[in-house]
Amino acid sequence: MTRRRAPEGIPVLIALDTKASGSLSRQIYRALRDGILAGRLTGGLRLPSTRALAIDLGVSRNTVVTAFDQLLAEGYVESRVGRGTRVSQTMPDHLLHARSRPRVRIVTTAPGNSAPGSSPSARGALLVDHARRRSAVDEGTVAFAPGVPALDLFPWQLWSRLVASRARELGATSAGYADSLGYRPLREAVARYVAVARGVNCTADQVLIVGGSQQGIDLVARVATDPGDSAWIEDPGYYGALGAFAGAGLRVTGVPVDADGMSVAAGRVGAPAARLMYVTPSHQFPLGVTMSLSRRLELLAAAAEMQAWIVEDDYDSEFRYVSRPLTALQGLDTEGRVVYVGTFSKVMFPALRIGFVIAPQSLLPAITAARKFAGTQQAVLEQMVLADFITDGHFERHVRRMRAVYAERQQHLIDALRAECAGVLDASPAGSGMHLVGWLPPDADDADVSRRAATRGVDAIALSAFAVGRGAGRPGVLLGYAHVNRATMFAAARGLAGAIRESLAQRPRVLAGRASRGASD
Ligand SMILES: Cc1ncc(COP(=O)(O)O)c(C=O)c1O
Repeated sequence: MTRRRAPEGIPVLIALDTKASGSLSRQIYRALRDGILAGRLTGGLRLPSTRALAIDLGVSRNTVVTAFDQLLAEGYVESRVGRGTRVSQTMPDHLLHARSRPRVRIVTTAPGNSAPGSSPSARGALLVDHARRRSAVDEGTVAFAPGVPALDLFPWQLWSRLVASRARELGATSAGYADSLGYRPLREAVARYVAVARGVNCTADQVLIVGGSQQGIDLVARVATDPGDSAWIEDPGYYGALGAFAGAGLRVTGVPVDADGMSVAAGRVGAPAARLMYVTPSHQFPLGVTMSLSRRLELLAAAAEMQAWIVEDDYDSEFRYVSRPLTALQGLDTEGRVVYVGTFSKVMFPALRIGFVIAPQSLLPAITAARKFAGTQQAVLEQMVLADFITDGHFERHVRRMRAVYAERQQHLIDALRAECAGVLDASPAGSGMHLVGWLPPDADDADVSRRAATRGVDAIALSAFAVGRGAGRPGVLLGYAHVNRATMFAAARGLAGAIRESLAQRPRVLAGRASRGASD
């Protein structure tokens, strides 16, 4: 049997002063002790071996052993065979009040938390605000998180085989810095795919591989506009775009969405000189409307008139159940104003973090440069494997399979809502996508419903969380179904129904309470 060797501890930075009066072992002892007392070396942290530290510091091993013995004797560190030397988990009280005070301050809060002038810019504060719309905690995979594919049905074994095969050959030729635009065979595969499946007009030279469409939207916002420029976003709309636009310092106008998609006429009134227009024409996020052809042409005309760029976010168009999708807006663009953004998060899996931007020629140099300064390039191994996955036909097969699964799951969701949420939630079948909107009674508070649902383990984001201006004008919740099996669907619908009923029951009392407080003021 082979025993796994415990890993070496992390290297510790110690600056020795050979001219100082104290011995070198005393300096090492003090540096480590100060680090422990200051909380920089935390309980359980494994220290480097005496041999490794001696080599790092250029001193004899005995010098380090003497320092470690002292720390051990005083209880700052513990040593066990096979586990190396670690910082003690519990520090005796008297050590925290050691006679010779550490020269470093004990840090109890993040450094700089309260220093004057240390708060972020207004732009930074706005980003924090937008990020709160959806916290990292609830970006999970429980029902009904939107936009999460059926991860359990992904062909992981096949994927692992492809990864292993590419990892073996990565070697000297592909492991260095590479083209910021991305791995060429993947760019070619993407160009072929979007031309056939989405009617996008492009060559592989226009395809830029990015870290998910979120990074694509962020890059486009920064190179297509200047801070202070005006931008349109669908209202309600995708908070990812809102955050990226805040990061670019744009003035954002929420443009209402009707049955034909974003209302260009309303946009013209709200912000007549937009520089950037963000749309999800195939499947409006979050309402699910498909932008009509006449509205697409109207939008292109408005962009031409205003000399604006359009960002077309085509995030889940693969999942269309009833008819062929309309071709992409980009395919109708004759002026080179549309930047098409796509993602592999929905067909493949979100943690892959691969998306792409198809940029008009005129924007290509700037966006390529921006990509260079924002992370240089996407990790190459995953790009290679994804290119294989597409060119070997697995991508197409997986889309077809998932399309059938998601159509069925949407029906399960409708069934579950009819059975469990009758009278308090209304949802209609949709021809595409991975989520539905569940409409609540007009006087419901969707944020309150969402909070109560979360306490029951159900993730139902409030529609109001996507309001850019007035929002949808009606309360509702977003219900992602792609990753939820039938049994979970019914249980989650029951939980959601409980949350809605509880919220509705509380509502009159809250209003009554407010009214009586108002009367006595
Ligand atoms: C409207 C919209 N755009 C894009 C994305 C995908 O983002 P990414 O490719 O960064 O994972 C999502 C994911 O939920 C989305 O809802």
